[in-house]
Amino acid sequence: MLHTDFSGVDVHLPADVLGSALERAANAHNLLVSGSGPGSEWLGWRSMLDSPNDALLERLDRLAMEIREEADVLVCVGIGGSYLGADAVITALAPAFRSHGVEVIFAGHHLSGAYLASLVRHLEGKSVYVNVISKSGTTLEPALTFRVLRAFVERSFSNPEERIVATTSRDSGALQHLAADQGYRQFAIPDDVGGRFSVLTPVGLLPIAVAGGDIRSLYYGAVSMHSNSGRVPAETADGLPTAAAYAARRIALYELGYKTEILATMVPELARLGAWWQQLFGESEGKEGKGLFPAVCTFTTDLHSLGQFIQDGDKSVLETFLTVEATSDALTIPESDDNLDGLNYLAGRTFSDVNRAAFEGTREAHISGGTPVIHLTLARQTEEHLGALIYFFEHAVATGAYMLGVNPFDQPGVEAYKKGMLTRLEKE
Ligand code: PA5
Repeated sequence: MLHTDFSGVDVHLPADVLGSALERAANAHNLLVSGSGPGSEWLGWRSMLDSPNDALLERLDRLAMEIREEADVLVCVGIGGSYLGADAVITALAPAFRSHGVEVIFAGHHLSGAYLASLVRHLEGKSVYVNVISKSGTTLEPALTFRVLRAFVERSFSNPEERIVATTSRDSGALQHLAADQGYRQFAIPDDVGGRFSVLTPVGLLPIAVAGGDIRSLYYGAVSMHSNSGRVPAETADGLPTAAAYAARRIALYELGYKTEILATMVPELARLGAWWQQLFGESEGKEGKGLFPAVCTFTTDLHSLGQFIQDGDKSVLETFLTVEATSDALTIPESDDNLDGLNYLAGRTFSDVNRAAFEGTREAHISGGTPVIHLTLARQTEEHLGALIYFFEHAVATGAYMLGVNPFDQPGVEAYKKGMLTRLEKE
């Protein structure tokens, strides 16, 4: 499902450095699978894959079907881990322009009143459902946004309690209490799954199912990568699961001074997956003065903005390419009678052919310019493969964080801005 190629990195790593990183990655992997590392009370994203809850998947599918039948728009209200995973999968699966199906809109992930006012105008006269998603139930951005959208639903529909679905903690937090009070349908976020690891819980699964995604295949794709990652003997030439082999290279390079990792995709539909990856890695590793800075590029777009820096700038960047082997786009370049643009030499080839040439040329240029390159190839851009990729990255980030000696599952640094903001807003 996922192929890893480390040849563009291993040329940059002295054998003893790589050897020691692989050994540390093996120890970190063992800490993770034995549940004996820091934050081990947050390993629900692994254990829930050991015994899939098919009844829950069915319940989610049933509600998604109702929303697809009844609604023009589903607004998902959430921030950080409470929306990035759904956005990533939906964008990866959907065509760029659609004229049918429920429109899924994300809100509550910033504080722009102009956006929200414009959203409410967009919703007027449409059949709207709202899925409010917050594990704590107290995060200001989604809570304020929901206050506005709840008022909209209450004044626009006679059955507001049937149009609002709350995804939150099972029995605590302001949102849970509000949902119970108002009689909203609820889905529980397991206590032992943190926000950025929650895409395969109802947090991500309900919006994905409403958008038409096959959540069973997504879930079972992750199950399959999870069982491979625990297997002994493991799957790579290094004797490690691929996720741990990836972690070993990233951390070895980081310790050699490559402080920024760019996740580079060749298609815009994977850009939001990059945003999910960025949060997963940034919030899990970036603590105690450590961690790679995760950046995301979509090529070839960003070759015309950041390509110069990657090729020629400060040598502190490592690049992880994410490509897809079998693309569904068979758009062929047409022959032109006048050939005034001089492009007839490409006529008959597909855009995928040209994109592949762009990838290969970029990879070669960046490696020869001194940028270490990791290449991850997803066999297909389907639910099953995306599920596998999600688990791969989750396992990799936990392993990498353990190699750095930090707890992957907390985010103490996020509290600082909230404190400063709330002090100014005079909340006691
Ligand atoms: O990864 C995390 O834990 C965070 O990004 C949270 O998902 C984010 O802060 C939103 O939190 P909540 O779901 O409690 O509103």
